[in-house]
Amino acid sequence: MPIVTFLKTGNSINLPNHSSLIDLEDSRDNEVSFGCQSAACGTCLIDVVSGMQNISLRNEDEQDLLETLDLDDEKLRLACQCVVHGDIIINPQS
Ligand code: FES
Repeated sequence: MPIVTFLKTGNSINLPNHSSLIDLEDSRDNEVSFGCQSAACGTCLIDVVSGMQNISLRNEDEQDLLETLDLDDEKLRLACQCVVHGDIIINPQS
């Protein structure tokens, strides 16, 4: 069961394996803001501090928006497009 830890607060949330990070919204401890949930707005931007190997690869929609926003750092991801299968530490950017 992956553990998602928020860098600044140290709070963490357990998610079922292979969950979308959108599922964080079901927890009162969630610290990621979501908007469109479809790789269109960038609200859910996160910096993956550790555990990138435990997150799905960027899909085409995510890649397109990050390029449009001129965000080429590989550690920056759109949480609404990420599926997790292991522990990660993230720093929400919004
Ligand atoms: S919620 Fe809009 S891009 Fe993720």
